[in-house]
Amino acid sequence: MSDPDRPEPGEYDVVVVSNRLPVDRVEEPDGSVSWRSSPGGLVAALEPFMRRTDGAWVGWSGAPGDAPEPFDEHDMHLVGVPLSEGEVAEYYEGFSNATLWPLYHDVIAPPVFHRRWWDVYVQVNRRFAEAAARQASQGATVWVHDYQLQLVPGMLREIRPDLRIGFFDHIPFPGYEIFAQLPWRRQVVEGLLGADLLGFQRGADAANFLRACRRAAGLRTSGSTVRAGDRTVTARAFPISIDTPGFGDLARRDDVQARAKEIREALGDPRHLLLGVDRLDYTKGILHRLKAFGELLDDGRLDVHDTVLVQVASPSRERVEQYQALRDEVEATVGRINGDHGELGHQPVHYLHHSYPKEEMAALYLAADVMLVTSLRDGMNLVAKEFVACRHDETGALVLSEFTGAADELGGAFLINPHDIQGVKDTIVRAVESGEREQRRRMRTMRKRVREHDVSRWASDFLGALDAAGGARDDAGAPGEGGDAATAGDGAAAAPA
Ligand code: F6P
Repeated sequence: MSDPDRPEPGEYDVVVVSNRLPVDRVEEPDGSVSWRSSPGGLVAALEPFMRRTDGAWVGWSGAPGDAPEPFDEHDMHLVGVPLSEGEVAEYYEGFSNATLWPLYHDVIAPPVFHRRWWDVYVQVNRRFAEAAARQASQGATVWVHDYQLQLVPGMLREIRPDLRIGFFDHIPFPGYEIFAQLPWRRQVVEGLLGADLLGFQRGADAANFLRACRRAAGLRTSGSTVRAGDRTVTARAFPISIDTPGFGDLARRDDVQARAKEIREALGDPRHLLLGVDRLDYTKGILHRLKAFGELLDDGRLDVHDTVLVQVASPSRERVEQYQALRDEVEATVGRINGDHGELGHQPVHYLHHSYPKEEMAALYLAADVMLVTSLRDGMNLVAKEFVACRHDETGALVLSEFTGAADELGGAFLINPHDIQGVKDTIVRAVESGEREQRRRMRTMRKRVREHDVSRWASDFLGALDAAGGARDDAGAPGEGGDAATAGDGAAAAPA
């Protein structure tokens, strides 16, 4: 007889679990249903990997109500998890995006703590864990993603101890002084420790997590490992990447190159085309970028007659208050710059509040002279890597915030501190004025990095390490083993991998 708490194994050897499926369910005005690519770096990174893998992807369809029946789309097997209207409000918009998101991004906006939101977060995490358990075959690998699902590894291990479980955190993991604000910090750490392997974007994020293990849960860490009961869990950096060959091929297509020319022509063939591409999110530093750009026009250091900024700001989390306030402020700022500097038939900022297909994005990357990435905090920032991957002629300049994971890898970028507006202005001018030789030198080193370290390498590095970590599970050493063991509460920084 089957045990209701121990579901029968499913048929998939690899199961990916993320808050969203790679496609969102959209109801058209005539009542028909269509599927649209869902936003964000997580989907952009995982989709190419999942298309090549005979696995299942478990996630939410992006609309409240019943989940669709499991379906196949773009060579992927997709399994929907239902969220009610209330759960969307309290688990997704509330705890995930008004509590954890600002907390993990260094409290750029004040996080909101509600006990009720936490309860719903727990309830929804359990539903995701159960859905994954139903898909996973005996001994399967389950790869859980991102801050919305931090309790899933622990819950999954309880119901399916046979699984090999990995977790990847796509966003920063904050320093302990900030993380400690979370009333449920211990439960979050313990939830994550259900995994065999925890991946972070940067070594600093992994070190922050290991410190949280010591301080919030009183556990012993040693190097990049932590003892959790009778298991040893590894926490290391695995910087995420993009489908570099895919973007390279797109950018070489005749129609995409023709579209890039058309974009420049439509903008009046400016001498300098600056580009920003972001989800409309307060972590992206869009206002800092606009302030710097507006002042450069005020100062006359950029000439309004031959400079254009295209800002793509794709709609995101539109019912969360902080996102609504940001949208108002960005749109007022764009209006002010265009009002001050625009002329009939010419405006310096082209603001586009839309999402675009990959072809259009590649054409924009090709059309631009300078790409602006000014995030105040960003786990990685895949847009920076996409821009580099598209520039096969080795021209173009990337202005990149130091506070992105990408800054650790893209040494050829013009680095900025987005809070230093004067520094941002000077660096934009340097990037705009950089000659072809300098651009090539910088672009070559960045292209080498994204070529050698693409998303398939990221996935195989992580899954290879997960294999090894899962294998080490049974013969894990005794607590406190290892020369540099740090004990609970000592506050010592663990060595990042
Ligand atoms: O990478 C951060 C992230 O929150 C992903 O988890 C998500 O896919 C993306 O940004 C977009 O966010 P949302 O799903 O809230 O629109």
